[in-house]
Amino acid sequence: MKKRDIALIIGGIAIVLFLLAAPEETTKKVPTDTTHQKYYDLVKQEGKKAAEKFCEDCHNDEQVTFPPDHPPKARCLFCHKLEQ
Ligand code: HEC
Ligand code: HEC
Repeated sequence: MKKRDIALIIGGIAIVLFLLAAPEETTKKVPTDTTHQKYYDLVKQEGKKAAEKFCEDCHNDEQVTFPPDHPPKARCLFCHKLEQ
């Protein structure tokens, strides 16, 4: 076997192990209801950062409250993905 082949095999195994180790995606996705549909459009047009500015208009301590163990919330869309 050539050195290059061995490198390819080792690289392949590393990728498979990486994929197996990746945690399952469990964080809730952004709903596709009428409330959230406009943010899907906004992400497409202007990107995630522009859309995220509006999330906390509703998702805050008074209205749609977060679960008590919610992680730090800057950048909602890094964790809550859009439906495909
Ligand atoms: C106009 C108010 C409003 C805005 C703005 C809003 N949401 Fe929501 N969101 C809601 C309400 C109400 C619910 C709960 C009922 C539902 O599922 O629609 C909800 C539910 C959710 C859920 C939970 C879905 C589930 O399966 O339990 C996620 C995640 C979410 N929103 C993310 C976002 C993100 C990210 C943004 C910004 C891009 C956003 N929301 C903007 C009102 C809003
Ligand atoms: C670091 C990752 C992260 C960020 C950033 C983040 N969240 Fe979450 N969020 C989570 C996790 C984890 C949960 C609890 C597990 C789950 O979604 O089922 C959660 C739960 C929620 C829920 C409740 C879902 C339900 O019905 O169980 C809502 C609504 C929500 N987040 C909205 C937001 C909004 C709006 C923002 C931005 C202001 C935001 N999140 C930012 C990780 C994150």
